[in-house]
Amino acid sequence: MKRVAPLASRAPKAAYTDPLAEVLRPGQSVELLKELHILTRDGKLNQDSRRKLKQVYHLCNFIEPLLEDVLGRQDTLTLADHGAGKSYLGFILYDLFLKARPGAHIYGIETRDDLVEKSRELAARLGFERMSFLNATVAESITTESLPPRIDIVTALHACNTATDDAIQFALAKQARHIVLVPCCQAEVAAVLRKHKNESFGKTPLSEIWRHPIHTREFGSQLTNVLRCLQLESHGYTVTVTELVGWEHSLKNELIIATRANAPRRNARERLQQILIELNLQELEARFLGTP
Ligand SMILES: C[S@@+](CC[C@H](N)C(=O)[O-])C[C@H]1O[C@@H](n2cnc3c(N)ncnc32)[C@H](O)[C@@H]1O
Repeated sequence: MKRVAPLASRAPKAAYTDPLAEVLRPGQSVELLKELHILTRDGKLNQDSRRKLKQVYHLCNFIEPLLEDVLGRQDTLTLADHGAGKSYLGFILYDLFLKARPGAHIYGIETRDDLVEKSRELAARLGFERMSFLNATVAESITTESLPPRIDIVTALHACNTATDDAIQFALAKQARHIVLVPCCQAEVAAVLRKHKNESFGKTPLSEIWRHPIHTREFGSQLTNVLRCLQLESHGYTVTVTELVGWEHSLKNELIIATRANAPRRNARERLQQILIELNLQELEARFLGTP
């Protein structure tokens, strides 16, 4: 009797798809991903790095239209990334969108000199000539002469504690068109809430929200971002706040995107002031109401 091949072997062969090609965005340099240790030396993705890459790409999806907006108006573009760390974001933005745009320049600002040195070496190795790295705090970078007086886009991704606030001051001073923030925890507001807890109990029943330390920390953190949004609005920015989906493993996945619209929300400054008074936070006026 004639032997019949099993069904699986008779099925038409599926076209081979490279699993890497399915994940990588067009134009993405494999070399860069190896250097960033997102890909292994033999060009493979592991579970962790697949997640990291997905996250960075996800954020890039939000930033790409902002780059297009700036480059649609002018030939040049400057982007400053604060608390850059290993500069994943800067390198991937440059590689995907700015490599072929001779007028674009990315600046990474970072306090750890070892990370700054590594980023400089990597940019030199890859020939990413229009990437510079500053060994400075965000606050110092506001006045340094190593940066141009105007910066079009400011990003700060999990920049520690009040570094996000400094990044806002930087963006205001540099008249940034777009600001992209994924704040880290900020302990300052919670500390001031805690300091005036007893007075607040007599002043507002809202103080029940920060009766317990864990609530104070979480409320302080939420409140910080509310104040930051009002601050940006009072300076003429429109603000979108959303969740950075895909960052579920991180508690800090709030994405704030602000765009300069030259139309300050009329009552934003007033509301900010009222909140600071109501919650006994007047000593933070310089942080949220001060001008850069
Ligand atoms: C949590 S890491 C985030 C790194 C990177 N943005 C990312 O998301 O992969 C925060 C980085 O901010 C840097 N940093 C903290 N405070 C800073 C400050 N005031 N100015 C500049 N960099 C700061 C730290 O050294 C660290 O590398």
